[in-house]
Amino acid sequence: MCGIVGYIGKRDALGILMDGLHRLEYRGYDSAGVAVVDGDLTVTRASGKIAELEKKVSQITHHGTTGIAHTRWATHGPPVEKNAHPHRDCSGRLAIVHNGIIENHAELRRDLQAKGHVISSETDSEILAHLIENEMKTQGDLSTALRFAVRRVRGTYGVAVVSMDEPGTICVARLGSPIVIGVGDGEMFVASDASAIMRYTTRVIYLDDGEMATLEAGNYRIRSLDNLPVAKEITEIEWSEEDVQKNGQPHFMLKEMLEQSEVLRNTMRGRLDADNGTAILGGLKDASERLRELDRITIVACGSAYYAGLVGKYMLEEYAGISVTVELASEFRYRKPVLTNTTAVIAVSQSGETADTLAAVKEAKMKGILTLGIVNTVGSTIARETDFGVYNHAGPEIGVASTKAFISQCVVFALLTLFLGRQRQLSLVMGKRIVEELKRLPELVDRILDGRELVRDVAEKYSDVTSMIFLGRKYCSPIAYEGALKLKEITYIHAEGYAAGEMKHGPIALVCPELPSVVLCPKDSVYEKTKSNIEELRARGGKIIAVTTEENDEVHEFAEDVIEIPKTLEMLTPILAVIPLQFFSYYTSVKKGIDPDKPRNLAKSVTVE
Ligand code: F6R
Repeated sequence: MCGIVGYIGKRDALGILMDGLHRLEYRGYDSAGVAVVDGDLTVTRASGKIAELEKKVSQITHHGTTGIAHTRWATHGPPVEKNAHPHRDCSGRLAIVHNGIIENHAELRRDLQAKGHVISSETDSEILAHLIENEMKTQGDLSTALRFAVRRVRGTYGVAVVSMDEPGTICVARLGSPIVIGVGDGEMFVASDASAIMRYTTRVIYLDDGEMATLEAGNYRIRSLDNLPVAKEITEIEWSEEDVQKNGQPHFMLKEMLEQSEVLRNTMRGRLDADNGTAILGGLKDASERLRELDRITIVACGSAYYAGLVGKYMLEEYAGISVTVELASEFRYRKPVLTNTTAVIAVSQSGETADTLAAVKEAKMKGILTLGIVNTVGSTIARETDFGVYNHAGPEIGVASTKAFISQCVVFALLTLFLGRQRQLSLVMGKRIVEELKRLPELVDRILDGRELVRDVAEKYSDVTSMIFLGRKYCSPIAYEGALKLKEITYIHAEGYAAGEMKHGPIALVCPELPSVVLCPKDSVYEKTKSNIEELRARGGKIIAVTTEENDEVHEFAEDVIEIPKTLEMLTPILAVIPLQFFSYYTSVKKGIDPDKPRNLAKSVTVE
């Protein structure tokens, strides 16, 4: 969601902060701001994208070597300048940036106002500045004041604060919203996401919930919120600077879609055991015996990751013979899930920071249930909170709409199916067959990528429609949901995804010549059933865009437009079928003049409930 960046050292802070903000813009882009301490405290804020802030910052003439900055995704109060961070206290001597949500903000606001504080924004975040100001009066130093201030907060925070009274210090604290510290040579960085600072240092420390840090130019101290010293390890970031650039493509989304064959190679590298028809998953090695005892899996995730979980369910049930339920993490956490000690909860998350998914993991852990993570971001909170896990190795995903992470999540489920399947009923012959097909996947993905021009033509033909339906059966039903989600997200066209068999139970009432349907109809075990559903749509004047497997000539008889994908095993078909749908949404978005990397109202990492 929102992004934080901070710097303290010997260089001009402003340039580093603005560079960091550009790298974090994908996390939120409603408004942005920067605060620099240089004897004075200069705060500059602007509504809109970072470019708007850049114009204002170019007027600043006095620079300092300590500062914090923020890019916002609005939760409380509209995206106008007064609601942009950094927020100051009444005296104007300190400034804070905050990610997360202060749930008791209304009560705190009333209390602070009664004490005479003037709160000038509609945000929950500004409350923190005033709480710290209050504590400064009695506690004396910034770090202690921050520690006492956050104790009054109910909710989540990743917060950074600077003060004119301690110009050589940045204080940060974390509860439920990520904070990473970058360790440089005589300088320190802080960010909500390592991609903001990795250009300057690859040595980072991830704060855990309930920890805070005091940063000085060549020094850091980490303590718990109970004021006990905490020893933390420095981690080396594996991603390179190049990984977070567009590499000459007009959008991150396009760059990331085009990377997908390489992504699959990276996800599978060293993990396929062809001789034994299984997968080698280092992160699960020590859980092997517990996994053998499992008879149920609950997958928790949100959005696209949830749809990847649905693909995983079909794979695991068919080939590993384990009963699987897939739950929206936001629902799981508030109901009373019945979990036994032979159940594992698998959390799927690209960012590893999604608040709802993280809360579901915590809920499962509290009940003593084994938790596994399928996470892309190394060192992220969900990766660290889960007992065991499998990293995607998809590289950083910057485009707001998930693409390469989604297919990588599906492939991890295929690997997990091999692993758990071979512990159970999956035969060596079938295991070997799945391994062989997995090995072919990157090459098949490349063929789809090469055919993207055709998808562009189809997308442009339909770019003026106001509504669309996406349909699929069995392994392709989650792909229908994912296709509809992609279209909504980056084109703002209304789209519904359905399991094809559901149409006749209601949604078919919508079908008319103005409502085209994208139907996933590969030649699989349910092809004939899907064909009947297509006929039902055609009988009502509906236009069909078919996504089918190569050499299926008859489809031209009942579809206006046909997009082909190569043949593979039915369980791996969703991984191929989703790619044309990603391109379909991307090209529609571009045709409509929308920036697919920054769709309205969205942000990459959803760290609030
Ligand atoms: C859709 C999309 C979102 C995410 C969801 C979960 O394109 O990107 O629906 O899939 O917010 O995010 P992660 O995987 O980071 O937990």
